[in-house]
Amino acid sequence: MNGEKPLTSPLFPHPTPGTPALTGGRPGTPPLAREGRVGASGQQDAGRRPFVVAIDGPAASGKGTLARRLAEHFGFAHLDTGALYRATALLVLDESGDPADPAAATAAACRIDATRLTDPRLREDAVAGAASVVAAMPEVRSALLDLQRDFAANPPGSAHGSILDGRDIGTVVYPTADLKLFITATVETRASRRVQELQDQGATVIYETVLQDLTERDARDSRRQAAPLMAAPDAEIIDTTMLDIDVVFERAAALVARSLKEKGWQ
Ligand code: DC
Repeated sequence: MNGEKPLTSPLFPHPTPGTPALTGGRPGTPPLAREGRVGASGQQDAGRRPFVVAIDGPAASGKGTLARRLAEHFGFAHLDTGALYRATALLVLDESGDPADPAAATAAACRIDATRLTDPRLREDAVAGAASVVAAMPEVRSALLDLQRDFAANPPGSAHGSILDGRDIGTVVYPTADLKLFITATVETRASRRVQELQDQGATVIYETVLQDLTERDARDSRRQAAPLMAAPDAEIIDTTMLDIDVVFERAAALVARSLKEKGWQ
């Protein structure tokens, strides 16, 4: 699917400054990404196109932290695709629109580019709530699709690989990803980790409130009609409930290294 798309006009400029939502590859990495192409067999040549890692999982599963660490370790570019839905929601709110209005949300989604992914307000609760509303709209999802596929196939900074994390990367956005990871944990564990994270930032939080919020977000993400949260059949599932983040990183890094080797990148 991705190999058939024209990839001539990247929506993300090269190079792109590092941001929490989007980071480029290591300076000096081979410019394989720019040479991504489809071989005579119809398949992309190993070593000529970027290596793509899809990471999916529920909210607060640790997939974002993992994606960032893997990207840094392997010199890959990283895109937090949740930021695209958050940026869409923020744009609607900034223009006093209604995030539940599909026309307003789709028009906003069509205006998203890398420059909109750096706004610190993307992390606010109101924006997260509106993001889950716009993310349920098929028109919004399809408006953001090319942008995600383009990032994967043409990673900024001449990175030789890309890592996208979200809910539907392995199932919808990039079903031909070289490696798919599904990162999960019980909702109670995720709530405890989120409480700790917020407390570390100096916030006063109540565990039960966070637990309820995550339970509701899980339900919205999993039950929606359009691209619901689910593990791809060929995804490697890592349940982090009993695992420390360093162990999760080691396991995931070993899977990436094995896949790179199997596919002739190393
Ligand atoms: O991961 P996050 O909390 O930043 O995601 C924000 C919202 O976007 C959340 O409701 C899930 C949704 N989302 C999605 O539907 N598909 C993605 N690939 C990424 C996020």
